[in-house]
Amino acid sequence: MLITNPQKNPGKEKNIPGKAPGQKNIKPGSCREESGLAGKRAGVEPVLETRKLCYRYPHLKENALESIDLKVYPGERIAVLGANGAGKSTLFKHLNGILHPLSGEVLLKGEIISKKNMRVCRQTVGIVFQDPDDQVLAPSVEEDVAFGPINLGLPEVEVRARVKEALELVGLSGFEERAPHHLSGGQKKLVAIAGILAMRPEVIVLDEPTAGLDPLSSARVLELIMKMNEELGITMLLSTHEVDVVPYFAERVVVLHHGRLEAEGGPEEIFSNPTLIGKAHLRLPRVAEVFELLRQDGVNAHIRITAETAKEEVLRLMQTGQE
Ligand SMILES: Nc1ncnc2c1ncn2[C@@H]1O[C@H](COP(=O)(O)OP(=O)(O)O)[C@@H](O)[C@H]1O
Ligand SMILES: [Mg+2]
Repeated sequence: MLITNPQKNPGKEKNIPGKAPGQKNIKPGSCREESGLAGKRAGVEPVLETRKLCYRYPHLKENALESIDLKVYPGERIAVLGANGAGKSTLFKHLNGILHPLSGEVLLKGEIISKKNMRVCRQTVGIVFQDPDDQVLAPSVEEDVAFGPINLGLPEVEVRARVKEALELVGLSGFEERAPHHLSGGQKKLVAIAGILAMRPEVIVLDEPTAGLDPLSSARVLELIMKMNEELGITMLLSTHEVDVVPYFAERVVVLHHGRLEAEGGPEEIFSNPTLIGKAHLRLPRVAEVFELLRQDGVNAHIRITAETAKEEVLRLMQTGQE
C-alpha cells in the first residue's frame, strides 16, 4: 500500500478543466503542503472509519466490499477512485447507515454506526447521490432544500435562513420557486448539494458528482466542493472514475477495485503507478499519459498530473537538454 506523500509545490493556483474565463482559480488538491495534511491527522480522531468492512448483496456469491480499512480525518478531501462496479456506491452507502455491514464496522467519531446514533449520523454525514432525480423530489427548489431542516424539527425562521444560505452558497438564489424537473442536470445537482448543505453536515459524501455533466457544470461543482471544504471546513469524500478531475480536488486518493482497497496515497503518487492504474481498470490523466509515453521512450521525465506542473516539467526537460 502506498503512503500518503503529497508533493510540495510552489503554490501557484491552477485552472480546473472547463473553468469559465474569469471564474476564480482554486488550488489543486495535489498541491497541499505536506505539513498541512500531516497536521490534519496528527493525534486527531478520524471522523469516519471503516474496519474490515465487508458487504454482500442478497443472493450474490461474491462480496461487493472485501475487508475495507479506511480512515477519514476531519477537513480532508478524498477521492475514492474506481471503475464501474468497483464498490464505490456500496462503500458510500455504509457511511451514513443506508447499508449495514455483513461483517466489520463503520465508526462515526469512534462510535459504531447503529440504530441508536442513526439520527446524529444522518445529520453529520450528508450523501449526494449520483442521480439528482433520486434525491431532488419536491415540487419547488425551496421546498426541496427545506425538506431536511424541516425533518430536523427546526423552527420555520431557522429553516428559511438555512434554505437562503444554502441556495446562496451553491449560486442558486432566485431559483426558489422553480420546479427542479425543469432545471438542467448541473442545476439539479446543485439543488441536491444545497439540500445537504442546509443540514449543516460535517462530512459530505458525493457519489460521482461530475458524472454526466458538461465541462462547465462539472467545473462549477468542483469549485463548490473546494469552497465547501476550504471555507466551511466540511470534510469531503468523492467517488469518481474520471481520472482527469481527481488532481484538481483530491488531497488523498483511495483506489477501489473489485470491492478491495488496492492503494491509497497522494494523487501524484497514485498516478505515478501505471501498473496499479491498469490493474484497477482506470487510465492515467491525459496530461500524465504524455509523460508516461516519454518515459517509455527513455526520457527521464517525471509524471505530472496537472497542466501547470506539466508545463514546469516540460521546461525542466528543455533546460536539461532531454530529447
Ligand atoms: N442493489 C444491488 N443488488 C445487487 N448487486 C449490486 C447492487 N448494487 C450494486 N451491486 C453490485 O455490487 C458491486 C459494486 O457496485 P457499486 O457499489 O454500485 O460500484 P460502483 O459504484 O463503483 O460502480 C457490483 O458488482 C454491482 O453489480
Ligand atoms: Mg456507483
